[in-house]
Amino acid sequence: MSAKSILVLHGPNLNLLGMREPELYGNTTLTSINQNLIEAAKQADVTIETFQSNSEADLVSTIQSIATKKVDFVIINPAAFTHTSVAMRDALSAVKVPFIEVHLSNVFAREAFRHHSYFTDIAVGIISGLGAQGYTLALEFAVKYVKQSTK
Ligand code: DQA
Repeated sequence: MSAKSILVLHGPNLNLLGMREPELYGNTTLTSINQNLIEAAKQADVTIETFQSNSEADLVSTIQSIATKKVDFVIINPAAFTHTSVAMRDALSAVKVPFIEVHLSNVFAREAFRHHSYFTDIAVGIISGLGAQGYTLALEFAVKYVKQSTK
């Protein structure tokens, strides 16, 4: 059996983590979040790729590319596109990949416009408000999920 593969997608402005509103998003940089995930994936013997973009089109194209390459699970923080992007939701539905939605902040404790997500109802689950640790926990779940899956 070939190694299971996990794709981590980061939406707009997450490249600014570390300097961007640390009281909301913490001090950990995206590079550090990705490095931790890559290290944890190595330990768990799964393949991992990470991708950040500020462009909705690039994120849609990357999700579409899952149709032609092996990706068993997605961890996604759609950032501001959480609350706006029917296009990213449709792409995830089209490629039928199981995914977890992650948010560093607790979106439900913030402005009303952040309470609605175009992703949550089609996600396996959501982690919101646990900071950078949310990604580690999502990966832990994803590893168990892909190892149990018969696909
Ligand atoms: C976010 C929450 C979103 O509402 C916001 O637009 C972001 C980051 C989070 O990780 O808490 O950019 O997804």
